[in-house]
Amino acid sequence: MRLGIVIMAAGKGTRLKSKRAKVLHEIGGKPLLKHVIAAAAQVVPPNDILVIVGHQAEAVQAAVRDTGVRFAVQEEQRGTGHAIQIAEQATRDYDELIVLSGDVPLLRPETILTLRDFHLRERAAMTVLTAAPTKPFGYGRVLRRSSDAPEVAAIVEQRALQPEQQGVREINSGIYAFHREALFSHIGQLRAENSHKELYLTDMAHILDDAGERVVAIEAAQAAEVLGANTIAEMMELDHKLRLATAHRLMAAGVTILQPETVMIDAGVEVGADTVIEPFAQLLGETRVGSDCRIRSYSVLENTTLGDQVLILQSCVIADARIDKGARIGPLAHLRPGCHIGEGAHIGNFVEAKKTNMGKGSKANHLTYLGDAEIGSGVNIGAGTITCNYDGVNKYKTLIGDGVFIGSDSALVAPIVIGEGAYIGAGSVITKDVPADALAVARGQQINKLNWAKNRRAQREAQKSVSSKQ
Ligand code: UD1
Ligand code: CA
Repeated sequence: MRLGIVIMAAGKGTRLKSKRAKVLHEIGGKPLLKHVIAAAAQVVPPNDILVIVGHQAEAVQAAVRDTGVRFAVQEEQRGTGHAIQIAEQATRDYDELIVLSGDVPLLRPETILTLRDFHLRERAAMTVLTAAPTKPFGYGRVLRRSSDAPEVAAIVEQRALQPEQQGVREINSGIYAFHREALFSHIGQLRAENSHKELYLTDMAHILDDAGERVVAIEAAQAAEVLGANTIAEMMELDHKLRLATAHRLMAAGVTILQPETVMIDAGVEVGADTVIEPFAQLLGETRVGSDCRIRSYSVLENTTLGDQVLILQSCVIADARIDKGARIGPLAHLRPGCHIGEGAHIGNFVEAKKTNMGKGSKANHLTYLGDAEIGSGVNIGAGTITCNYDGVNKYKTLIGDGVFIGSDSALVAPIVIGEGAYIGAGSVITKDVPADALAVARGQQINKLNWAKNRRAQREAQKSVSSKQ
């Protein structure tokens, strides 16, 4: 038996009222379509997954091309039945097809397998995956021959429900298995005779049933995993469910998450045991956190890798960074993309860094900008230090050797090299390379005028007494 999976993802998603194609909207930090492809790819190799694209086809393909799936283009979106007609040629090598909807993103691979096995066991021409959610409104309803039989007579869309059918709670999930030959030998019978003037794939249920083919239904174990996302509000409900599930997955692996309903953790995030995540933290994208870390409140980490025992204090913004074991960041630090902070290093409050490597045990504790800097180990960067990396046209590097001490409020005008063990006097503007172990001071010379202040005060007092006598 050769099995292919088709994912319908060509629709616009009119009900979202958004410029962006529906399947590109994100839940858990990932486009809807990526979730569906990930589940499908657990069942068949990516090459056996065909995604039907149409609305914003290029953007949709670009967003998921890395998964290795195949595409077919539905130029005009004339309904779910039409989408499957488009797939006829590209699926000719398969005996059985599973059809998924690009906007039903919480479906688990286990459920696809259950559907496949049931469909094969029943030798059905069409198997419909169903659910009985508490709020069936809006979904197509599945009319079984009798309540305890698997046989289906028809699927009726919400708008077409007869008064006596309003009470049917079993919904069509938009996920099906088909015996391919039965599907394509009858799909030409679809007619756009409905309120949307579209070809409905759901009509295949009664078409196949009328043709004497076997049409059956199987209810999903959890109604929540087949919920669709047709509006932003529905999408955010699914986002909430997914994030809560992610938080629970991490807690089951030994992570402490305080007030888990307040944190925002993307589905792809991994965290080691004994790490503590405080309320309102955000861990986004492919962030990886080691063991025994603490992420304090309001910090936002995106695509960032933390070693073990890293402390992220409150309100840090960190993207595309690598932070090694025992480092301490924040509060209120900003690590822009491309930073590598070494073991035990400290980045303190109001420090901004970009494309900067900081060696083991080095410290920049206060009020500093580090851009395009290579900093060795055991370096101390004083408060208010600035790497002047930009001349208005180009960016230049600052190289700081091991054990360097940069005095407060220094400006290091790149390109510049500060040799190992050198000292920079506070308030210096350094424009020339500094040799190893040297002291560089580059600031105005100080002059002390003895008794100048005292004499001035005396002068003023004298003036005052003259003017008060007049
Ligand atoms: C569909 C089902 C409904 C079911 C619900 C479950 C039909 C007619 N109705 O309704 O019974 O309860 O899913 O979520 O199928 N698409 C295309 N090309 C098109 C039209 C749609 O690729 O021409 C894609 C969409 O991008 C989407 C999927 O098919 O991913 C489902 O389409 P949608 O319009 O959302 O169908 P529903 O109204 O939700
Ligand atoms: Ca839908």
